[in-house]
Amino acid sequence: MWPSGAMAAMGYLRLCLVAALLIAFCRAEISSKVGINYGQLGNNLPSPIHSVHLIKSHLKSGRVKLYDANPDILRALRGTDLVVSVMLPNNFINPFSSNQSLVDSWIESNLAPFYPTTKIRYLLVGNEILSLPDKTAWFNLVPAMRRIKAALKRHGLNKVKVGTSMAMDVLAASYPPSNGTFRSDIAVRVIEPMLQFLNRTKSFYFLDVYPYFPWSSDPYNINLEYAMFESKNITVTDPGSGLVYHNLFDQMVDANIFAMARLGYPDIRVWIAETGWPNGGDYDQIGANIYNAATYNRNIVKRFLSKPPVGTPARPGQVIPSFIFALYNENQKTGPGTERHFGLLYPNGTSVYEIQLNGDVPKRGYKPLPRPQPYKGRIWCIVAEKANRTAVVGALAYACSQGNKTCEAIQPGKECYRPNSLVRHASYAFSAYWSQFKKQGGTCYFDGLASQTIVDPSKPCLLVSSECFCAWEKIY
Ligand SMILES: *[C@@H]1O[C@H](CO)[C@@H](O)[C@H](O)[C@H]1NC(C)=O
Ligand SMILES: *[C@@H]1O[C@H](CO)[C@@H](O)[C@H](O)[C@H]1NC(C)=O
Ligand SMILES: *[C@@H]1O[C@H](CO)[C@@H](O)[C@H](O)[C@H]1NC(C)=O
Ligand SMILES: *[C@@H]1O[C@H](CO)[C@@H](O)[C@H](O)[C@H]1NC(C)=O
Ligand SMILES: *[C@@H]1O[C@H](CO)[C@@H](O)[C@H](O)[C@H]1NC(C)=O
Ligand SMILES: *[C@@H]1O[C@H](CO)[C@@H](O)[C@H](O)[C@H]1NC(C)=O
Ligand SMILES: *[C@@H]1O[C@H](CO)[C@@H](O)[C@H](O)[C@H]1NC(C)=O
Repeated sequence: MWPSGAMAAMGYLRLCLVAALLIAFCRAEISSKVGINYGQLGNNLPSPIHSVHLIKSHLKSGRVKLYDANPDILRALRGTDLVVSVMLPNNFINPFSSNQSLVDSWIESNLAPFYPTTKIRYLLVGNEILSLPDKTAWFNLVPAMRRIKAALKRHGLNKVKVGTSMAMDVLAASYPPSNGTFRSDIAVRVIEPMLQFLNRTKSFYFLDVYPYFPWSSDPYNINLEYAMFESKNITVTDPGSGLVYHNLFDQMVDANIFAMARLGYPDIRVWIAETGWPNGGDYDQIGANIYNAATYNRNIVKRFLSKPPVGTPARPGQVIPSFIFALYNENQKTGPGTERHFGLLYPNGTSVYEIQLNGDVPKRGYKPLPRPQPYKGRIWCIVAEKANRTAVVGALAYACSQGNKTCEAIQPGKECYRPNSLVRHASYAFSAYWSQFKKQGGTCYFDGLASQTIVDPSKPCLLVSSECFCAWEKIY
C-alpha cells in the first residue's frame, strides 16, 4: 500500500530528522577540544599522576598526546575522561614493518592492558619520521602502519586510529598555499600509500605547524602580527585559488590540504599534532618570549574552539582538532634554547602565563604581561656548565676545522693560548665559529655543549694579556 500524502510527509520528516541527527552525530564525532603534548624530556618534571592532575584541573585540557606508550602515564590516565594519543617510538618502525608477531606482542603488552579504561584513541607511528635522515624508515612507515592497524583490530582496540606526525618539510612547495606539493622523494613512494591508508581507515593527517619558525627565520619580511593571529588588516590573496588569508597558520595548513588534493585526496581531515610558540630561549632568538607565547597560544586556542568553527580558507567551517606544544619547559630537549622553552608550565607545575585549554578567560581579564624588549647587547658562545669534557675536545676540533682563522689565536705562542685550558680554548673557538657562521645558519649549540652568555668571557683573559682581549674583540 502506498502511503497517503500525510504519511509520506511524516516519513519525509522522520528521514530529515534522522539525517539531521546523523549530520549532528557526524559533526559531534570529532570535537574541537584542545589537547596538550605531554613531552618528558626533562630531569625535573612532576610525576605522571601530578602531571595528569595539572593537565585536567589546571590547564583544563580535553586531550593529551604522549611521545611513547609510557605505562606509568597510561596508568595515571585510567578512568579520567582525557582522550589519549600514544606514539610508537621511531626506532620501532623498521622492525615493525616486516614482523606481525612483533607488532601483535607490542600492542598486547603496551596498549591492551590499559584499554578501554584509559581512553586511547590515536596511535601515531613515529614522530616526524619523514624529516629524519633514515630513509629506510620512510619506506617502512606505511607497511608498519598497516600492520599496527591489523594488530589493533585483532586485539579489539577498534577505536584506535592510526596516523603519523608530519612536519612542514614534507612539502617541497608551500607558497602560495595552492602551490602546496609534497617532496618528490616521498610523494609517490610514501605519501600516496599513506593517504590511501588514512582515507580508508578514516584517520587524520597529523601535522606539526609552527608559524614561529618561518617568522623567526625571516622576521623582516613576515609580519609578527600575521604570525600570531593579531593582524587586523594584513591579507594575502593566493593567486592560484583566489582564497584570502589573514594569518600564517592558515596558509601553512592549506598548503598541506592542496598538496593532498593534488595527489587525489581532497577530503582527509587535518589534525594539528603540535603547535605553539617559545616563551624564551637564547638571547639571540628574537620573538621567543612570554608575551608572544601567551599571545599566540591564547589566540589559537580561541580559534580552535570558536563556534561555529572557522576552519581554514580551503576548508571553511571545518573543526580542526589540535594539541598545543607543550605541557612543560623540557630542559633535556636538544637544539637551540627555544626548544627547551615551549611549555605552558614550568617544571615546578606553575603557569608560565595564564591560559586554559577549554577557552576560559579569567573574569578580571588576563594579568598584563611585560612587553618584550629585544636584547641588543653582545652575546658570546661558550662551553656550557657541566659539559662532558671528552665531548668538548671533539667539538673544539670541529669548530677549529671550520674556517681558516677560527682557532688562530689559541695556537701555541698566539695571544689567547694562555690560559691553556680546554674550556678557555673551546669557548674561544665556539664564539669564533658562531660569529663567522651564524649568518649562514650556524648555531651556538655543539650538541648541547655550548651555551650563550652576555657576560664578556674575554675579561679574565685581559688580566693575562691584552692581545688576547684584542683577539676576542676581533671575532665579535
Ligand atoms: C619477529 O619477532 C619475534 C618476537 O616477537 C621474534 O621471535 C622473531 O624472530 C621475529 N621474526 C623475524 C623474521 O625477525
Ligand atoms: C610553486 O612551486 C614551485 C616549486 O614547486 C616554484 O618553482 C614556483 O615558483 C611556485 N609558484 C609560485 C607562484 O610561487
Ligand atoms: C576516500 O574515501 C572516500 C570515503 O570512504 C571514498 O569515497 C573515496 O573514493 C576515497 N578516495 C580515494 C582516492 O580513494
Ligand atoms: C595595518 O594597521 C597598522 C596599525 O593600524 C598600520 O601601521 C599598518 O600600516 C597597516 N598595514 C596595512 C598593510 O595596511
Ligand atoms: C616555578 O619556577 C619558575 C621558573 O623557574 C619560578 O619563577 C617560580 O617562582 C617557581 N614557582 C614556585 C612556586 O616555586
Ligand atoms: C662523554 O663523551 C664521550 C665522547 O663523546 C662519550 O664516549 C662518553 O660516554 C661521555 N661521558 C658521559 C659521562 O656522558
Ligand atoms: C683556507 O686556506 C686555504 C689555503 O691556505 C684556501 O685555499 C681556502 O680558500 C681557505 N678557506 C677559507 C674558508 O678561507
